[in-house]
Amino acid sequence: MKTIRELELKGKKVFIRVDYNVPLEKGKISDDTRIVESLPTVNYAIKSSGKVILCSHLGRPKGKRVPELSLRPVYEYLKKVLNTEVKFLEDITSPEVDKVLEELKEGEVLLLENVRFYPGETKNDEEFAKTLAKFADVFINDAFSVSHRAHASVVGIARFVKDKGIGFQMEKELKYLTRIVGKPERPFYALIGGSKVSTKIGVLKSLLNKIDKLIIGGAMANTFLAAKGYKVGASFIEEEYLETARQILKEAKEKEVKIYLPVDVVVEGIHGIRECELWEVEEEDKIFDIGSNTIRLFCEALEGASTVVWNGPLGLFEKKPFHKGTSILARKIASLGCTTIAGGGDTISAIKLAGVETAFSYISTAGGAFLEYLEGKELPGLAVLKG
Ligand code: 3PG
Repeated sequence: MKTIRELELKGKKVFIRVDYNVPLEKGKISDDTRIVESLPTVNYAIKSSGKVILCSHLGRPKGKRVPELSLRPVYEYLKKVLNTEVKFLEDITSPEVDKVLEELKEGEVLLLENVRFYPGETKNDEEFAKTLAKFADVFINDAFSVSHRAHASVVGIARFVKDKGIGFQMEKELKYLTRIVGKPERPFYALIGGSKVSTKIGVLKSLLNKIDKLIIGGAMANTFLAAKGYKVGASFIEEEYLETARQILKEAKEKEVKIYLPVDVVVEGIHGIRECELWEVEEEDKIFDIGSNTIRLFCEALEGASTVVWNGPLGLFEKKPFHKGTSILARKIASLGCTTIAGGGDTISAIKLAGVETAFSYISTAGGAFLEYLEGKELPGLAVLKG
């Protein structure tokens, strides 16, 4: 894959696929990480005298115009942080497009409205990809986090543009992520949380071939505990994945990967919120966090790692006091001084909440793409840029 440095940008329409799928609260951007991370590429294209066209999705509007999912707040943001004229194109398919492109000067920026307002985007429709290609002499994918989607602005467009490559943000993601999918420095430990085993099967199975320890927390640990015969009361579990959980435990044993599951928990039930041993979980109790002994066990288990990968919170971290397990483990990982890589929207929020984001080697801005990449899948958005 070529990088943006290797491509001639001067005077060209430089179409950059960014991921501005940022959280909005009352129309205001509540976390600008993804925009900030895109700025080195955007500024490079501006300085190189490209006519910069930025394209992103926001949410899942299902091919319709949903005003709450307009990229206008991002436009307002970009106007403040970019040192150039920034324009906004409401309709990518309007007859005005030719004129807008003609008027766009070198070093100026044109942000396109939410590309998922058009049904052709998620269908990877050829005609729609051609419509997008009109905006591109050069196609840059700087959105690792959406590269697992075979959509028109990620994959389809690349067929109609000769000069293509990746941006700095993508380069950074790949640099760190290849460290864990390639030959990670061992001992290599994985901490996997979140609510569902079902969304993590692929990544768990693939990690078992590489890691030395697997530490499991979050609601998905409930399914593992239930699979081992523990009572989990009224906690969330995935009944249909109990067998899968057993298989993963068996496979881990065969591959000599040590598994760590919670040994005590924090529950909410008819006796209010309390910490208890696993055998003390009652029928009405819902497990929302790992207990103190588990925190100690997990922290000790992480000692001596050379590489740690973390995805998924260990409890209901958004709600106090259930943040404790996730926060303490975030701080522990941050203090290890080894290669520490984390990814996934909730994991990033949890790390930020614990205030340790600068202490990680790398925090991926991706969620689904991060997991698929760790699984060893080829991401369509990358495949299309090769050779
Ligand atoms: C993400 O937030 O993970 C990316 O922007 C992809 O969004 P999607 O899951 O709606 O495709």
